[in-house]
Amino acid sequence: MKLTKQDFPIFAHHPDLVYLDSAATSLKPASVIAKNVEYYEQYSANIARGLYSLSEQATTEYEKTREMTAELINAKPEEIIFTRGTTESINLLSYSLESRLKEGDEILVTIAEHHSNFLPWQALALRTKATLKILELDADGQVNFEDIKRLITPRTKIFALTFVSNVLGTIHPVKDIISTAKAINPEILTIIDAAQAIAHLPIDVQNLNCDFLAFSSHKMFGPTGVGVLYGKLTLLEAMTPFQYGGEMVLEAKRKNSVFKNSPHKFEAGTPDIAGVIAFQEAIKYLQTLGYGTIRTHELDILNYASDKLQEAFGDAITLFGTKDISKRSGVIAFSLAGIHPHDIAQMLGEQNICIRAGQHCTTPLHDTLGLPATARLSVSMYTDRKDIAKFIEELKKIQGLFEK
Ligand SMILES: Cc1ncc(COP(=O)(O)O)c(C=O)c1O
Repeated sequence: MKLTKQDFPIFAHHPDLVYLDSAATSLKPASVIAKNVEYYEQYSANIARGLYSLSEQATTEYEKTREMTAELINAKPEEIIFTRGTTESINLLSYSLESRLKEGDEILVTIAEHHSNFLPWQALALRTKATLKILELDADGQVNFEDIKRLITPRTKIFALTFVSNVLGTIHPVKDIISTAKAINPEILTIIDAAQAIAHLPIDVQNLNCDFLAFSSHKMFGPTGVGVLYGKLTLLEAMTPFQYGGEMVLEAKRKNSVFKNSPHKFEAGTPDIAGVIAFQEAIKYLQTLGYGTIRTHELDILNYASDKLQEAFGDAITLFGTKDISKRSGVIAFSLAGIHPHDIAQMLGEQNICIRAGQHCTTPLHDTLGLPATARLSVSMYTDRKDIAKFIEELKKIQGLFEK
């Protein structure tokens, strides 16, 4: 097993750090940080507008990231739009697709969506008087295909769902879900939130046959402030821009303007140039590790963590989501009898152990499960068994304090 902790400078600053919050944001390897600095030190100019060599170099590097991103998910460079994150990618869609919806149309989402893939659709439904329909999950956190067949109608225009749940860890069979949805209604637009999938599972948009897919650089070893929206080119070409401003227009006239082709018509204004350029190194890092190695490692850690948690806490602990670890990725959300998740996270934090507590931006799911909050640990390549053992040891001490 290739150990990667030494690739992440934060561990040199915090040797005792147990970082179990990679689903919130991953740590950054030295190569990503160095590439960010390289831009500011060596060719810190704006892109796409300068006629001098520094600007040309920055533009070349920026566009190189687009090509690498396209290659990562088997898309064309023109199908890759850089945004600020998954949230902005999905909001872009919810505005640019608005003209396709009218009163009485339907939008389908699952109950387990992150607010980023729930609230933009709820708002769009309210703006257009469309109906927001919700696909419930079974007790194991899985989608029931009969429910999909029942809920999708000729009026369903949009089906937005997450690839991997950020609470239940469920890996949804998105390829089968998409083909089932399109068999019922070929006009439906499928939107995949891959925020929790991209650092863990290989994604091939052509194989999935999704219409749109969104993810964030910062959850896959890259900088914050950079997101990706993939869309099928024919759809992007037919869509209106989301924001208007510099560098997205071909001809700006007094009354009417002509916009550039995709992706540039969706990238108004100065983007996070340094972030996008440094994102190259995150893609390289991921590809060097390889999705096979990443998956083998995460399955080992998730199996180890769930076994040891059950062993240490028995009936006092509830682990949410399916028990079949092969159907999960990245996260384990749990609750411990008699202790509020916020107390757990805060007391672990005092020992330099980072986990997350709350509703993880999935209030509709927590309401459905009748839970005010959950605690959540999440793993990455730099997570090892020692981290999990230390976390469980401290959690045991916390339980002991509450039992006194
Ligand atoms: C499943 C899922 N979707 C969307 C998001 C939003 O990502 P961002 O905050 O990078 O826009 C997150 C972040 O946690 C997530 O877990």
